[in-house]
This record gives sequence, structure tokens and C-alpha cells, in this order.
Amino acid sequence: MKRRKQENVFSNKVQEKLNLLKKWLKQADQTVIFTGAGMSTEAGLPDFRSASSGMWNNINPLELASTEAMEHNRQQFIDFYRHRVEGLQSCQPHTGHRILSKWEAAGKIQSIITQNVDGFHHTAGNHRIEELHGTLRSCHCHNCGRSYPIERFMGEDLTCSCGGFIRPSVVLFGESLPEKALNQAAEESEAADLFIVLGSSLSVSPANYFPIEAKRNGAKLVIINKEETALDPEADLVINGEKIGSILRELDN
Ligand code: APR
Repeated sequence: MKRRKQENVFSNKVQEKLNLLKKWLKQADQTVIFTGAGMSTEAGLPDFRSASSGMWNNINPLELASTEAMEHNRQQFIDFYRHRVEGLQSCQPHTGHRILSKWEAAGKIQSIITQNVDGFHHTAGNHRIEELHGTLRSCHCHNCGRSYPIERFMGEDLTCSCGGFIRPSVVLFGESLPEKALNQAAEESEAADLFIVLGSSLSVSPANYFPIEAKRNGAKLVIINKEETALDPEADLVINGEKIGSILRELDN
């Protein structure tokens, strides 16, 4: 018996929205995709604020993702980020990431603005990516800025030749976002005529500024997120309660 291709079964209401979004994707000249941690949960990486998201060793991960923790709680900071790097190494981009890569190659989307530090959009083959919150794929000296492969952070020697502390190249709470990524993301958001949010609670600034900037400059704003977000009322189309992987598979049909 022939295996039926995995069919996604959506309610009529969701299917109608997806049919409309397929039309918008065809019509748009500048489509920008904006991703958050919800893009990677189906690859096995937990997000930050879903009800199901866990503590790490009974500590709120958001407390450790800070300059404060790096300075005053250094060993837990190191253990936490080593745990996240190990978690990355056992996960792969999922079908949704590969669909976005195919869409960039086909000119269907122009760029991805991501809050994620997992590097999965690079691994899946996308090239136009703005990593607003840095990356867990490398580390650098906190003093002189010298960059090292992430393997250095997993080893014992975390002291740079200048004497500084070698830390992951993610943006910590208390740090400013990379200027180049911010400027590029602003340019893409202003030029977009279709801006699609995938898997973000949109609760962290300044990242959550870009959907609004796109809308303000005339883009259609689409928010696809399991839970509701504070920006849903501003959007032209919202889909809650569905998984991004199945949504992207349906849009790719
Ligand atoms: N499909 C659709 N939505 C999903 C899925 C999925 N498979 N999995 C999770 N979600 C949704 C959740 O409902 C949640 O609202 O993704 C959203 C993820 O939100 P957050 O956990 O807040 O992650 P994000 O928005 O990326 O956080 C932004 O905060 O902690 C900082 O720097 C960190 O980049 C992160 C930033």
C-alpha cells in the first residue's frame, strides 16, 4: 500500500488563512521572515517562555543569559552555556528550516531576521540572515574581542592570550545588539511588503520593533505562533495554535 504523503489537517478557518498567505507570498516582492525560538522547538531545542519551557538546574535560564551572571555567577554561566552548546550538537534543523532555505534559493523570500542563536538557518542553507542575538556557533574574548571556534569554550582554557575571559558570542541581557545586524534588519523591515513572524512571543526589545517597523512602512504583517502575542492585534493575519513545521509544509505545497 502506497504511503500517503503526510497530509496536514487544518480547520477550515486556518486553511482559509493559509490559502490567503500563499497568495500573498506569490504577490510579494520583498518577503522577510522573522524567527524566534518557536522555529527551533521542533528541532529539539526548548524555547524560553512557553508554559512547557523548563528551568535549568532549578534556575531560570533568562537569569543566566546576562552580563550579571557572567561576572558574578561565572561557573553556572559557563555550565549553562556548555549545556546549551551540547544540546545544539544533538539537534538538527527541521523540515521548516529546509523549506525556508529552498524559498530563499527560489527568490520567494529575501531574508531572515532571527533572534535564535542556534545557527540552524545557516546549517539549512540560507545566506541572507541577520542574527540579532549573536550565535552559539562561536565564542570570543570579552576583553579584546578576538574570535575563537566554539570548541575553545567547551575546553578547559577560557583565558585569551590577552588575559581576557572567553565567552559565547551570544548577546547577553545587559549588552547591546550587533550594530550591523540591527541596521541590516531595519533596512529589510522598511523595504518589506510581506513580513512573517514564525515562533516568537515578541516580548523582547529591540527585536520586537522590526515587525512594527515593517507594518509602519506598508508591509502586510503575519504572525504565526502557537500562543498569542502582544502584537497580534497589529497583524493582518494571525495563526495561533499550530506548529510551524506543518504550516510551512502546507505553504510549500
Ligand atoms: N510552532 C509554533 N509556535 C511555537 C512552536 C512551534 N512548534 N514552539 C514554540 N512556539 C511559540 C511559543 O508559543 C512561544 O510563544 O514560540 C514562542 C517562543 O517565544 P519565546 O520562548 O519567548 O522565544 P523568543 O520570542 O525567541 O525569545 C526572544 O528572548 O530570552 C531571549 O535571547 C532570547 O532570543 C530570545 C529572545
